[in-house]
Amino acid sequence: MEVKTVLLTGGSSGIGAATARILASAGIKVYAGSRRGTVETPCEGVIPIKLDVNDQAMTEAAVADIVAREGHLDAVICNAGNGVYGPIEGTLEEEARAQLETTFFGSLKTIEACLPTFRRQGYGRIITVTSVMAILELPYQGLYVAAKSALLRLTETLSMELMGSGIECCSILPGDVSTGFTQARHLNKAALDESSPYKESIKRNLAKIEHDEKNGMRPEVIGKVILRQLRRRHMKARVIPRLDYKLVGFAVRICPEKLKLAIVRALYF
Ligand SMILES: NC(=O)c1ccc[n+]([C@@H]2O[C@H](COP(=O)([O-])OP(=O)(O)OC[C@H]3O[C@@H](n4cnc5c(N)ncnc54)[C@H](OP(=O)(O)O)[C@@H]3O)[C@@H](O)[C@H]2O)c1
Repeated sequence: MEVKTVLLTGGSSGIGAATARILASAGIKVYAGSRRGTVETPCEGVIPIKLDVNDQAMTEAAVADIVAREGHLDAVICNAGNGVYGPIEGTLEEEARAQLETTFFGSLKTIEACLPTFRRQGYGRIITVTSVMAILELPYQGLYVAAKSALLRLTETLSMELMGSGIECCSILPGDVSTGFTQARHLNKAALDESSPYKESIKRNLAKIEHDEKNGMRPEVIGKVILRQLRRRHMKARVIPRLDYKLVGFAVRICPEKLKLAIVRALYF
Protein backbone atom coordinates (compact mmCIF):
# COMPACT_ATOMS: atom_id res chain seq x y z
CA MET A 1 0.00 0.00 0.00
CA GLU A 2 1.29 3.44 -0.89
CA VAL A 3 0.79 6.18 1.70
CA LYS A 4 -1.23 8.94 0.06
CA THR A 5 -3.07 10.70 2.88
CA VAL A 6 -1.69 11.55 6.30
CA LEU A 7 -2.90 13.26 9.45
CA LEU A 8 -0.05 15.11 11.15
CA THR A 9 -0.42 16.80 14.53
CA GLY A 10 1.62 19.82 15.54
CA GLY A 11 1.82 20.92 11.93
CA SER A 12 1.90 24.68 12.44
CA SER A 13 5.63 25.02 13.12
CA GLY A 14 9.02 23.35 13.52
CA ILE A 15 9.33 19.63 12.84
CA GLY A 16 5.64 19.29 11.94
CA ALA A 17 5.63 22.11 9.40
CA ALA A 18 8.88 20.87 7.79
CA THR A 19 7.58 17.29 7.67
CA ALA A 20 4.31 18.44 6.09
CA ARG A 21 6.24 20.27 3.33
CA ILE A 22 8.53 17.30 2.66
CA LEU A 23 5.68 14.77 2.52
CA ALA A 24 3.63 17.06 0.27
CA SER A 25 6.56 17.50 -2.13
CA ALA A 26 6.69 13.69 -2.33
CA GLY A 27 3.03 13.64 -3.41
CA ILE A 28 1.45 12.84 -0.05
CA LYS A 29 -1.60 14.86 0.99
CA VAL A 30 -1.04 16.13 4.54
CA TYR A 31 -3.75 17.31 6.90
CA ALA A 32 -1.65 19.40 9.28
CA GLY A 33 -3.45 19.89 12.60
CA SER A 34 -2.62 22.40 15.32
CA ARG A 35 -4.41 24.74 17.71
CA ARG A 36 -3.48 27.68 15.47
CA GLY A 37 -4.74 25.81 12.41
CA THR A 38 -2.06 27.38 10.21
CA VAL A 39 1.25 26.30 8.64
CA GLU A 40 4.51 28.29 8.54
CA THR A 41 4.84 28.22 4.75
CA PRO A 42 1.61 27.33 2.97
CA CYS A 43 2.19 24.93 0.07
CA GLU A 44 0.19 22.71 -2.24
CA GLY A 45 -0.71 19.37 -0.69
CA VAL A 46 -0.68 20.65 2.89
CA ILE A 47 -4.11 21.33 4.33
CA PRO A 48 -3.97 23.18 7.66
CA ILE A 49 -6.71 22.23 10.10
CA LYS A 50 -7.60 23.43 13.58
CA LEU A 51 -6.97 20.55 15.95
CA ASP A 52 -6.27 20.49 19.67
CA VAL A 53 -5.06 16.99 20.51
CA ASN A 54 -6.34 17.45 24.07
CA ASP A 55 -9.88 17.61 22.72
CA GLN A 56 -11.01 14.08 21.94
CA ALA A 57 -14.22 15.10 20.14
CA MET A 58 -12.27 17.51 17.93
CA THR A 59 -9.69 14.84 17.10
CA GLU A 60 -12.35 12.25 16.24
CA ALA A 61 -14.21 14.82 14.09
CA ALA A 62 -10.98 15.68 12.23
CA VAL A 63 -10.35 12.03 11.38
CA ALA A 64 -14.00 11.52 10.30
CA ASP A 65 -13.77 14.60 8.09
CA ILE A 66 -10.57 13.41 6.38
CA VAL A 67 -12.03 9.94 5.76
CA ALA A 68 -15.26 11.48 4.39
CA ARG A 69 -13.26 13.67 1.98
CA GLU A 70 -10.55 11.22 0.92
CA GLY A 71 -12.24 7.84 1.43
CA HIS A 72 -9.19 6.66 3.36
CA LEU A 73 -6.51 7.69 5.85
CA ASP A 74 -3.19 5.91 5.46
CA ALA A 75 -1.06 7.22 8.30
CA VAL A 76 -1.00 9.38 11.38
CA ILE A 77 2.02 11.26 12.69
CA CYS A 78 1.71 12.22 16.36
CA ASN A 79 4.11 15.13 16.60
CA ALA A 80 2.29 17.73 18.73
CA GLY A 81 4.23 18.33 21.90
CA ASN A 82 5.34 20.84 24.52
CA GLY A 83 8.14 21.18 27.04
CA VAL A 84 7.76 21.80 30.76
CA TYR A 85 11.13 22.52 32.38
CA GLY A 86 12.24 22.52 35.99
CA PRO A 87 13.36 20.32 38.88
CA ILE A 88 11.01 17.50 39.84
CA GLU A 89 11.17 18.69 43.46
CA GLY A 90 8.51 21.34 43.83
CA THR A 91 6.77 20.63 40.50
CA LEU A 92 3.05 21.34 40.84
CA GLU A 93 0.61 18.63 39.83
CA GLU A 94 -0.98 20.90 37.23
CA GLU A 95 2.46 21.49 35.65
CA ALA A 96 3.12 17.75 35.49
CA ARG A 97 -0.33 17.16 33.98
CA ALA A 98 0.23 19.91 31.39
CA GLN A 99 3.31 18.05 30.14
CA LEU A 100 1.66 14.63 30.01
CA GLU A 101 -1.65 15.92 28.68
CA THR A 102 -0.44 17.06 25.24
CA THR A 103 2.65 14.94 24.76
CA PHE A 104 1.34 11.59 26.00
CA PHE A 105 -2.47 11.67 26.25
CA GLY A 106 -2.82 13.89 23.16
CA SER A 107 -0.91 11.31 21.12
CA LEU A 108 -2.89 8.45 22.63
CA LYS A 109 -6.19 10.18 21.79
CA THR A 110 -5.03 10.82 18.22
CA ILE A 111 -4.01 7.18 17.76
CA GLU A 112 -7.32 5.96 19.25
CA ALA A 113 -9.23 8.24 16.87
CA CYS A 114 -7.44 6.71 13.84
CA LEU A 115 -7.48 3.04 14.81
CA PRO A 116 -11.10 2.23 13.78
CA THR A 117 -10.34 3.52 10.26
CA PHE A 118 -7.03 1.64 10.08
CA ARG A 119 -8.81 -1.55 11.25
CA ARG A 120 -11.52 -1.17 8.63
CA GLN A 121 -8.90 -0.66 5.93
CA GLY A 122 -6.70 -3.48 7.24
CA TYR A 123 -3.91 -0.98 6.81
CA GLY A 124 -2.44 2.04 8.59
CA ARG A 125 0.78 3.52 9.83
CA ILE A 126 1.32 5.19 13.19
CA ILE A 127 4.39 7.34 13.77
CA THR A 128 5.08 9.02 17.09
CA VAL A 129 7.67 11.76 17.44
CA THR A 130 9.26 11.13 20.82
CA SER A 131 12.82 12.19 21.68
CA VAL A 132 16.27 10.88 22.37
CA MET A 133 15.31 11.86 25.92
CA ALA A 134 12.95 8.89 25.90
CA ILE A 135 16.10 6.79 26.35
CA LEU A 136 18.48 9.25 28.01
CA GLU A 137 17.20 11.16 31.02
CA LEU A 138 18.56 14.66 31.54
CA PRO A 139 18.21 16.84 34.65
CA TYR A 140 15.36 19.34 35.02
CA GLN A 141 13.39 17.76 32.20
CA GLY A 142 11.99 14.91 34.27
CA LEU A 143 8.38 15.40 33.21
CA TYR A 144 9.37 15.63 29.55
CA VAL A 145 11.51 12.50 29.92
CA ALA A 146 8.57 10.74 31.59
CA ALA A 147 6.10 11.80 28.87
CA LYS A 148 8.38 10.87 25.96
CA SER A 149 9.55 7.54 27.39
CA ALA A 150 5.92 6.65 28.16
CA LEU A 151 4.96 7.48 24.57
CA LEU A 152 7.87 5.47 23.18
CA ARG A 153 6.95 2.39 25.22
CA LEU A 154 3.26 2.83 24.38
CA THR A 155 4.13 2.91 20.66
CA GLU A 156 6.20 -0.25 20.99
CA THR A 157 3.57 -2.10 23.01
CA LEU A 158 0.89 -1.07 20.53
CA SER A 159 3.06 -2.34 17.71
CA MET A 160 3.16 -5.72 19.44
CA GLU A 161 -0.62 -5.77 20.01
CA LEU A 162 -1.29 -4.88 16.37
CA MET A 163 0.87 -7.65 14.93
CA GLY A 164 -0.87 -9.27 11.97
CA SER A 165 -3.45 -6.46 11.62
CA GLY A 166 -1.68 -4.65 8.78
CA ILE A 167 -1.19 -1.64 11.08
CA GLU A 168 2.41 -0.72 11.88
CA CYS A 169 3.98 1.62 14.42
CA CYS A 170 7.25 3.49 14.52
CA SER A 171 8.74 6.03 16.90
CA ILE A 172 11.19 8.73 15.83
CA LEU A 173 13.61 9.88 18.55
CA PRO A 174 15.11 13.24 17.52
CA GLY A 175 18.02 14.87 19.32
CA ASP A 176 18.34 18.67 19.34
CA VAL A 177 16.36 20.36 16.58
CA SER A 178 16.29 24.09 15.94
CA THR A 179 12.58 25.05 16.22
CA GLY A 180 10.20 27.23 18.21
CA PHE A 181 10.22 24.53 20.91
CA THR A 182 13.00 26.36 22.78
CA GLN A 183 11.04 29.60 23.00
CA ALA A 184 7.75 27.85 23.80
CA ARG A 185 9.30 25.87 26.69
CA HIS A 186 7.40 26.49 29.93
CA LEU A 187 9.56 27.04 33.02
CA ASN A 188 7.76 25.64 36.02
CA LYS A 189 7.40 27.42 39.35
CA ALA A 190 10.27 25.50 40.93
CA ALA A 191 12.60 26.50 38.08
CA LEU A 192 11.86 30.17 38.73
CA ASP A 193 12.28 29.94 42.51
CA GLU A 194 15.10 32.34 43.46
CA SER A 195 15.74 30.46 46.73
CA SER A 196 15.96 27.05 45.03
CA PRO A 197 19.01 24.89 45.84
CA TYR A 198 19.07 24.13 42.09
CA LYS A 199 19.22 27.80 41.08
CA GLU A 200 22.84 28.00 39.84
CA SER A 201 22.77 24.56 38.24
CA ILE A 202 19.52 25.40 36.43
CA LYS A 203 21.04 28.58 35.04
CA ARG A 204 23.96 26.63 33.53
CA ASN A 205 21.73 23.78 32.38
CA LEU A 206 19.19 26.01 30.69
CA ALA A 207 21.92 27.96 28.88
CA LYS A 208 23.42 24.71 27.59
CA ILE A 209 20.19 23.10 26.37
CA GLU A 210 19.01 26.32 24.73
CA HIS A 211 22.38 26.68 22.98
CA ASP A 212 22.27 23.03 21.83
CA GLU A 213 18.72 23.35 20.50
CA LYS A 214 19.37 26.63 18.68
CA ASN A 215 22.39 25.00 17.03
CA GLY A 216 20.57 21.73 16.51
CA MET A 217 19.46 19.94 13.35
CA ARG A 218 17.20 21.57 10.85
CA PRO A 219 13.65 20.19 11.23
CA GLU A 220 13.79 19.00 7.61
CA VAL A 221 16.20 16.25 8.74
CA ILE A 222 13.38 14.74 10.79
CA GLY A 223 10.86 15.23 7.96
CA LYS A 224 13.07 13.25 5.59
CA VAL A 225 13.45 10.44 8.13
CA ILE A 226 9.66 10.28 8.51
CA LEU A 227 9.17 10.18 4.73
CA ARG A 228 11.70 7.34 4.47
CA GLN A 229 9.74 5.31 7.04
CA LEU A 230 6.44 5.92 5.28
CA ARG A 231 7.97 4.66 2.04
CA ARG A 232 9.45 1.51 3.52
CA ARG A 233 7.65 -1.79 3.01
CA HIS A 234 7.79 -2.23 6.78
CA MET A 235 8.62 0.60 9.18
CA LYS A 236 11.38 0.24 11.77
CA ALA A 237 10.20 0.25 15.41
CA ARG A 238 12.60 3.00 16.59
CA VAL A 239 14.55 5.48 14.54
CA ILE A 240 17.14 7.88 15.96
CA PRO A 241 17.92 10.46 13.26
CA ARG A 242 21.57 11.36 12.50
CA LEU A 243 24.68 9.34 13.21
CA ASP A 244 25.88 11.32 16.25
CA TYR A 245 22.58 10.74 18.07
CA LYS A 246 22.52 7.08 16.96
CA LEU A 247 25.90 6.78 18.70
CA VAL A 248 24.42 8.41 21.81
CA GLY A 249 21.64 5.79 21.71
CA PHE A 250 24.21 3.00 21.37
CA ALA A 251 26.35 4.42 24.20
CA VAL A 252 23.32 4.61 26.50
CA ARG A 253 22.73 0.90 25.95
CA ILE A 254 26.26 -0.29 26.64
CA CYS A 255 27.54 2.36 29.06
CA PRO A 256 27.71 1.43 32.78
CA GLU A 257 25.25 3.50 34.80
CA LYS A 258 28.01 5.21 36.84
CA LEU A 259 29.87 6.35 33.73
CA LYS A 260 26.65 7.64 32.16
CA LEU A 261 25.90 9.67 35.30
CA ALA A 262 29.42 11.09 35.39
CA ILE A 263 29.13 12.24 31.75
CA VAL A 264 25.66 13.75 32.25
CA ARG A 265 26.88 15.43 35.42
CA ALA A 266 29.87 16.98 33.69
CA LEU A 267 27.79 18.25 30.78
CA TYR A 268 24.41 19.19 32.24
CA PHE A 269 24.73 20.29 35.89
N1 LIG B 1 13.00 20.74 19.02
C1 LIG B 1 13.64 19.71 19.56
O1 LIG B 1 14.85 19.80 19.92
C2 LIG B 1 12.93 18.38 19.73
C3 LIG B 1 13.71 17.25 20.04
C4 LIG B 1 13.07 16.03 20.19
C5 LIG B 1 11.71 15.92 20.06
N2 LIG B 1 10.97 17.03 19.76
C6 LIG B 1 9.52 16.86 19.64
O2 LIG B 1 9.12 17.23 18.33
C7 LIG B 1 7.75 17.63 18.36
C8 LIG B 1 7.59 18.92 17.59
O3 LIG B 1 8.27 19.94 18.29
P1 LIG B 1 9.06 21.13 17.58
O4 LIG B 1 10.47 21.04 17.99
O5 LIG B 1 8.73 21.18 16.14
O6 LIG B 1 8.46 22.39 18.38
P2 LIG B 1 7.38 23.51 17.97
O7 LIG B 1 7.88 24.27 16.80
O8 LIG B 1 7.09 24.24 19.24
O9 LIG B 1 6.12 22.66 17.50
C9 LIG B 1 5.17 22.12 18.39
C10 LIG B 1 3.91 21.91 17.61
O10 LIG B 1 2.94 21.26 18.45
C11 LIG B 1 1.72 21.98 18.31
N3 LIG B 1 0.90 21.79 19.50
C12 LIG B 1 1.19 22.08 20.79
N4 LIG B 1 0.17 21.77 21.58
C13 LIG B 1 -0.80 21.25 20.77
C14 LIG B 1 -2.12 20.76 20.99
N5 LIG B 1 -2.64 20.71 22.22
N6 LIG B 1 -2.82 20.31 19.93
C15 LIG B 1 -2.30 20.34 18.68
N7 LIG B 1 -1.08 20.80 18.40
C16 LIG B 1 -0.35 21.26 19.44
C17 LIG B 1 2.12 23.43 18.04
O11 LIG B 1 1.11 24.14 17.36
P3 LIG B 1 0.02 25.11 18.05
O12 LIG B 1 0.74 25.91 19.09
O13 LIG B 1 -0.49 25.91 16.88
O14 LIG B 1 -1.02 24.21 18.60
C18 LIG B 1 3.30 23.22 17.11
O15 LIG B 1 2.85 23.03 15.79
C19 LIG B 1 7.35 17.72 19.83
O16 LIG B 1 6.64 16.56 20.19
C20 LIG B 1 8.70 17.76 20.55
O17 LIG B 1 8.61 17.25 21.85
C21 LIG B 1 11.56 18.26 19.59
